[in-house]
Amino acid sequence: MKNKILYLSAALAFAVFTSCKSDVKTTDSETAEKEYKGKEIGSEFDAEIDKLVSQMTLEEKIGMLHGNSMFTSGGVKRLGIPELKMADGPLGVREEISRDNWAPAGLTNDFATYYPAGGGLAATWNADMAYTFGNSLGQEMRARDKDMLLSPAINIVRTPLGGRTYEYMSEDPFLNKKIAVPLIVGLQDNDVMACVKHYAANNQETNRDFVDVQIDERTLREIYLPAFEASIKEAHAYSVMGAYNKFRGEYLCENDYMLNKILRDEWGFKGVVVSDWAAVHSTVKSLNSGLDIEMGTPKPFNEFFLADKLIAAAKNKEISEAELDKHVKRILRTLFQVKAMGSQSKDRAKGSIATDAHYQDAYKIAAEAIVLLKNENNALPLKLDGVKSIAVIGNNATKKNALGGFGAGVKTKREVTPLEGLKNRLPSSVKINYAEGYLERYDEKNKGNLGNITSNGPVTIDQLDPAKVQEAVEAAKKSDVAIIFAGSNRDYETEASDRRNLKLPFGQEELIQKVLAVNPRTIVVFVAGAPFEIENISKKSSAVVWTWFNGSEGGNALADVLLGKVNPSGKLPWTMPKNIMDSPAHATNSFPGGKTVNYAEGILVGYRWFDTKNIAPLFPFGYGLSYTTFGFENAKTDKTTYAQDETITVSVDVKNTGKVDGKEVVQLYSSKSDSKITRAAQELKGFQKTLVKSGSSETVTIKVPVKELAYYDVTAKKWTVEPGKYTLKLGNSSRDIKNELVVTIK
Ligand code: BGC
Repeated sequence: MKNKILYLSAALAFAVFTSCKSDVKTTDSETAEKEYKGKEIGSEFDAEIDKLVSQMTLEEKIGMLHGNSMFTSGGVKRLGIPELKMADGPLGVREEISRDNWAPAGLTNDFATYYPAGGGLAATWNADMAYTFGNSLGQEMRARDKDMLLSPAINIVRTPLGGRTYEYMSEDPFLNKKIAVPLIVGLQDNDVMACVKHYAANNQETNRDFVDVQIDERTLREIYLPAFEASIKEAHAYSVMGAYNKFRGEYLCENDYMLNKILRDEWGFKGVVVSDWAAVHSTVKSLNSGLDIEMGTPKPFNEFFLADKLIAAAKNKEISEAELDKHVKRILRTLFQVKAMGSQSKDRAKGSIATDAHYQDAYKIAAEAIVLLKNENNALPLKLDGVKSIAVIGNNATKKNALGGFGAGVKTKREVTPLEGLKNRLPSSVKINYAEGYLERYDEKNKGNLGNITSNGPVTIDQLDPAKVQEAVEAAKKSDVAIIFAGSNRDYETEASDRRNLKLPFGQEELIQKVLAVNPRTIVVFVAGAPFEIENISKKSSAVVWTWFNGSEGGNALADVLLGKVNPSGKLPWTMPKNIMDSPAHATNSFPGGKTVNYAEGILVGYRWFDTKNIAPLFPFGYGLSYTTFGFENAKTDKTTYAQDETITVSVDVKNTGKVDGKEVVQLYSSKSDSKITRAAQELKGFQKTLVKSGSSETVTIKVPVKELAYYDVTAKKWTVEPGKYTLKLGNSSRDIKNELVVTIK
């Protein structure tokens, strides 16, 4: 592992300080943020690149600018330029696809580790887990001899209905960037390019091929772009994927404002822009607007916009050879950067795949992702004394999610289901009574409309099968404890369509009520990637756990949480609304739009809306319980007044006041109640996860550069920090604020 992490000096400084003055030490140790920074694309190969380009024919150059197979763009063999080899995606390295169609290539050596999906990774609220994710996956990419991972997927979760919510990270731009950056650094540390997607404003699947997204400039800058900006400026991602949709009238793969002006001129992006698959609509315009490589779905590759049509355009002098060279050079620079060519290619990382170490990485992430939503009377962790039998109920106890739905999955030899996890972890003296409970059924007539919110008619069959209900109720009755597994799956939550509503599918709600009625010791576990309307169920159950499409080891991690071997520390990366109409895009009636969608809620996305409008969510952003309790003490800032170029250092002692060790996430939100501009009630500006042993304390330090408090001033076209007083709120969820500190910015 070539770890290029720069450790902040805080921990060291503290150690030195306390060794001199041991009497001031109030806590056992200190946790501070690590800074992850990527390596920039260098210019050291420019002379070699110029020489190569000078030897290339027009056709060879253009061959590099479009797909020559489903997941490669062309190389130039005679000059030693390899094809650029890409692979999806967000859950791990996708199986090998045929060169000219979507059918799997049928290899036997492309089994990979299935990592927790984006929502789960973000729910760890742990930048180190994101680095582990990227680094582990980067090694798998190299073992498959790939150059570019089509990931991370970091579009903002604007609506809980979004079909790709499970794949994306968060509704919050700060959490989004703090997960994206280390992931990219970890990945690129393995001589693999990240392809950050989908740039940008691609927040719905409905009409994604043509919908024209209208977002005001301030909202664009403050909500939809920060994670992309940080991916470029901090992580130095080597590629970016242009999205399908339009933004302010122009397709994103031919959007001069987004690609040339913002991405390259403002942020200094030096890498390549790759189109989403079949997202290109023009030839000269695309190239001039900043696209470099056209990728797509099956049609003869020479018919792509950047293939024969581009050769013709170049011959007709509609585009200059100098312009073509610019794009070719960008691609070559990234190939050199990841050692895919040139003399340094012999030193390129070799990688490894589906190893025990990687399953262990997947396990660690999965274990920190699981969120405990409710735990009355210490129903969890399960105490096994006196427990002779456990009913395991629900199709989701055995459902696998590595593959499924439309979109990239992972072919894996290991996906531990919840039922298998329990079997692995429970002593043999405990009998498991499994019952499927509900059937995963879809309406045949409407199958093509799965999740399509614009279609009429039922999509899922929500009537329960009486025999299955009977079996489940019997199992629950005769068992000491019942665990019911509900939620969704990757056929139901899928790319290319948004969900129609937030109701639990397949008759699950009725089933859960019936099981609860016969066994009060029932634990409800939701396996899903996006919010559902679960208020009723949550009220009636004493214990509710949320897990994700949680990777190869998801079932083991879940069993360890249920049984108390792992103390849950996941926190929701988005708001769980009571019902969909409370959510901003729906309350403002601005989803999904038609040809155009206008993001009418502006900056008030996610909890910003709920908090500003005083709407109670079911479970707030940042929320998640633990098996222990924590107190926050001695919250302070290092000063009271700061200049615009300074950094506020906030510290707080987190005390574990319960009986077991546990991890807590200190979250820092800022508010400016007397602001002259419209603002959200509060915004996340820092967080840090820390392990605190039972009975001990840990000092957590969070650094907030004053520039993080800026808003985007549309008139001045720049980030501006409004002087005056700010309240910094420390809590363990957006709605459980424990300390407030006031600072003044000059
Ligand atoms: C998705 C991308 C993906 C590409 C290639 C597209 O449909 O939007 O996220 O990387 O397909 O599979």
